[in-house]
Amino acid sequence: MQAMYDHPSPTSTDDILAFPAGFLWGTATSSHQVEGDNRNNQWWAWEQQPGRIWHGDTSGLACDWWRHAEADFDRAAALGQNSHRLSLEWSRIEPQEGVFDEAALARYRQMLQALHERGLEPMVTLHHFTNPLWLVELGEWENPQVVRYFERYTARVVEALGDLVTLWCTINEPAIYALLSYLWGRFPPGKTDWSIAFGVLANLLRGHAAAYHTIHRLRSEARVGLVKAVRGFEPANPVSPLDRLVTRLQDYFFNDVTLLAAKDGWLRFPLAWLPRRHGPLADSFDFVGVNYYTRGLVAFDIRRRREVFGRQGYRPGAALSDSGQFGPYSEIYPEGLYHVLRKVAMLGKPIIVTENGLPDADDDQRPRFLLTHLAQVHRALREGLPIEGYYHWSLVDNFEWAEGWGLRFGLIELDPQTQERRIRPSGHLYAEICRANGITREMARRYGVEEELFSNPPAARSAGHD
Ligand code: BGC
Repeated sequence: MQAMYDHPSPTSTDDILAFPAGFLWGTATSSHQVEGDNRNNQWWAWEQQPGRIWHGDTSGLACDWWRHAEADFDRAAALGQNSHRLSLEWSRIEPQEGVFDEAALARYRQMLQALHERGLEPMVTLHHFTNPLWLVELGEWENPQVVRYFERYTARVVEALGDLVTLWCTINEPAIYALLSYLWGRFPPGKTDWSIAFGVLANLLRGHAAAYHTIHRLRSEARVGLVKAVRGFEPANPVSPLDRLVTRLQDYFFNDVTLLAAKDGWLRFPLAWLPRRHGPLADSFDFVGVNYYTRGLVAFDIRRRREVFGRQGYRPGAALSDSGQFGPYSEIYPEGLYHVLRKVAMLGKPIIVTENGLPDADDDQRPRFLLTHLAQVHRALREGLPIEGYYHWSLVDNFEWAEGWGLRFGLIELDPQTQERRIRPSGHLYAEICRANGITREMARRYGVEEELFSNPPAARSAGHD
């Protein structure tokens, strides 16, 4: 598969950490979180049940994108971005099994065209956590038939919209979806069963492979990625053999089984009791999409059966985001992004940071977060890693799943009641970065990270960490 561009090395002069020409600078969103009024999926139903969402919040009108996405696309373009990652809502496109809604597809066409008109390259995710209600009736991703349904939906979407999209993501964060929905019970259907969770993950991977081949069959020029939440795991006590063991196990169950399966096609334990090969999965991605938020420091804890006996914490004294000590986005740890980029580089494919961000309503941390995380991307680029783009999560505050409106990830602040927006200072800073195609010394100075980024750049500071 042809890469979008050859990977020129980035430069770092004394005054700028420059990114390669053609680098994709964007933000990411997902359909249910921004569109509003998505009544025909399992999340809408879940939100109506008392006690499921923080403070009893519901997605409601969300960011009102089904009607007015273009207004936020205007803002993204005005903020210097050149790409946007969004997802399609299966329950709108196929509201009943086998029945496709042409009006919904037409609306997505309109949105994709609107992105192009504004100079924003669309990146399209086919599945981002939500399922149509008819699929819920049929057992969602527990039912192996789902692979066929997903394949049919993908084919219809690519026929209708494929001329407007080059960059595709199949299924967003399969492990997060499977574990939160079927092992930790925080996402619908709220199950807590180990073997169901990994059975679902195996079906998601089969679905991913089916979508990968379907997209390529219909559009040979497409570039199709696997989007993986890659969390950093480190032992809380590096000299404790038990902490090291459970850290390795968490990394394996959460990260490696998925990445390895998409690389070589083997469904290893716990995806299957005995290793089983699923041919279409082998080498089933043209790029790896990395979603990075934080790391976990893992300590052995016999009571944490569902987390393979590891309790996650953070470094004492670490800067914490708005999700505070209870997570899941606690510690702000930019170096972790570098380490996960190094980890996925082993797969030998181009890499795109498809999500990175933090909940920070008053925006007192996000500007530095942006600078220090992007400096780690630059560090990885300097070492020759083929990173093609960065998508901040998110463009605008949106419905944050089980945390409802309680966590605010947007470069743009939103009042969901009035739909009023205000660009946060970090939104303006990100615009400067996108326009400069890099981080200038002056930007770093303004936010107090000049020394960290320029006098004592990340590579030197943590040499030997690995
Ligand atoms: C998901 C997003 C979510 C973000 C912040 C990612 O895991 O893909 O949908 O909003 O994290 O929680």
